[in-house]
Amino acid sequence: MKTHTLLMPLDMHLHLRDGVMLETVAPLSAYSYSGGVVMPNLVPPVETLEDIKAYKQRIMAAVPNDFFEPYMTLFYKNYDKAFLKSVVDDIIAIKLYPAGITTNSEGGVASFNIEEMRETLQTMSDLGIPLCVHGETDGFVMDREAEFMSIYELLATSFPKLKIIMEHITTKAAVDMLDKHENLYATITVHHLILTLDDVVGGMMRPHLFCKPIAKRPEDLDALLSVALEAHPKVMFGSDSAPHPKDKKEACGCAAGVFTAPISLQLLCEIFEQYDKLQNLQAFVSDNAQNIYGICPEFKEITLEKRPFVVPATYGSVVPMYAGEVIAWAIESVD
Ligand code: DOR
Ligand code: ZN
Repeated sequence: MKTHTLLMPLDMHLHLRDGVMLETVAPLSAYSYSGGVVMPNLVPPVETLEDIKAYKQRIMAAVPNDFFEPYMTLFYKNYDKAFLKSVVDDIIAIKLYPAGITTNSEGGVASFNIEEMRETLQTMSDLGIPLCVHGETDGFVMDREAEFMSIYELLATSFPKLKIIMEHITTKAAVDMLDKHENLYATITVHHLILTLDDVVGGMMRPHLFCKPIAKRPEDLDALLSVALEAHPKVMFGSDSAPHPKDKKEACGCAAGVFTAPISLQLLCEIFEQYDKLQNLQAFVSDNAQNIYGICPEFKEITLEKRPFVVPATYGSVVPMYAGEVIAWAIESVD
């Protein structure tokens, strides 16, 4: 039986939610990952030191028997220097959402006025706090990410020492940006290494594959694969696993988000093996993130095995990607 072992896998973009949903999904990530960058788009968002500490405690309480480091983020607003100094030790990054662009982002940034943002972004740069960005405009859905490239350029050139992570990139335009500015990095999801828009709406409409940013064209998929499979040192894995209850997905008005937490490593093995690049998966799922963020997760070793695995129909109230279907790899052991 073919196996593949990974050390300290990290999920650098993860939605864990809160309450019962947190209790359902956090153990699934904690089982196979050493840590994850936890998104702050709760209702209300994570925006004070008390919010960060209390949310981290709830996460830890939801994963009592596993080692899992929740790397906490703060919801971007124009914060002052004193506040940022008071939270720097408790966060790994600050997550910026354009206002209203996706789930629970209403309190995000309404206009990218650099002067209004300068104190916050310059202080983040000085304190070494990376800026994670949901990079979409409110334009035509297939063009939203490409249209956002000019904002990435503005941010990258205005704050050349600020680490800026282009989250869940989906386009060749974003891939091309990586080498243009030293301070730009990116996360890539597993579903965006598999899907194009055709898979979402080209045949029957697939609500469980609907997310933001939406999957794009074949040439975009190729561009994402080219940097992920080579483990380009500026890209890292971030699942954007985004659970919603089944009745919010299979609905008239489907919530955006693909739930991949329990199968993401298995799918990554399948993709990397298919292109004969399994040797690069370690860098993509852990080493690059350790270098980019300067983190050193505690030891975890996970061995995956190439054998058919039937994806459960649901985890609690959530339907995962590929529910009821067979995937090619399974988790064999975790130490
Ligand atoms: O599909 C998405 N779901 N994209 C996001 O940006 C947010 C996420 C969520 O929180 O559900
Ligand atoms: Zn997200």
